[in-house]
Amino acid sequence: MRAPVRWEGDMPTVADDALATSQGLMGGNGLVRTDAQRIEAYIDFVRAVDHPGLHADPTQVARGKAIFERSDVGCAGCHSGPLYTDKALYNMFGFQGVKTPSLLGVATTAPYLHDGSSATLRDLLLRSRGGSMGDTSSLSEAELEDLEVFIKSL
Ligand code: HEC
Repeated sequence: MRAPVRWEGDMPTVADDALATSQGLMGGNGLVRTDAQRIEAYIDFVRAVDHPGLHADPTQVARGKAIFERSDVGCAGCHSGPLYTDKALYNMFGFQGVKTPSLLGVATTAPYLHDGSSATLRDLLLRSRGGSMGDTSSLSEAELEDLEVFIKSL
């Protein structure tokens, strides 16, 4: 559903990734395509997400959404559309050509970034103060909190 997959977006589907991993990277004889498609179906089913962010105060979520969409903060430029990704590649945090990840369910998937170098969303928002990903440097503590609550509600 978020195809293409992998950090660099270089695999068309989860089934292709399972085939490549089992045949090439792990050095085995590999799966047959039907088994790879079963793995894809298993990974791709829609989970019922339940995390604290879903029960957040709607007015705070709305404030955070407005901040997310501010052009000087810049998040929505890349995290756009229903999956919050433009599926494009950027050079970011030392990685040449990393695909914008979807933000759906992101509250439950710490640590963050391709190398897991941000332990929490707050960490990541503070790192974005330098303009390395969007720019949160103009935000007050209360605004950072609103933005974080919004992201966790996705
Ligand atoms: C220029 C495009 C771009 C902009 C602008 C941008 N992002 Fe990102 N975002 C990315 C890319 C690419 C990654 C993957 C980086 C990595 O893994 O090293 C990412 C990763 C993330 C992640 C981690 C997701 C995960 O699963 O690890 C979060 C959370 C996030 N961005 C939130 C934001 C917020 C909040 C803003 C605004 C302050 C923002 N982004 C602005 C492209 C962008």
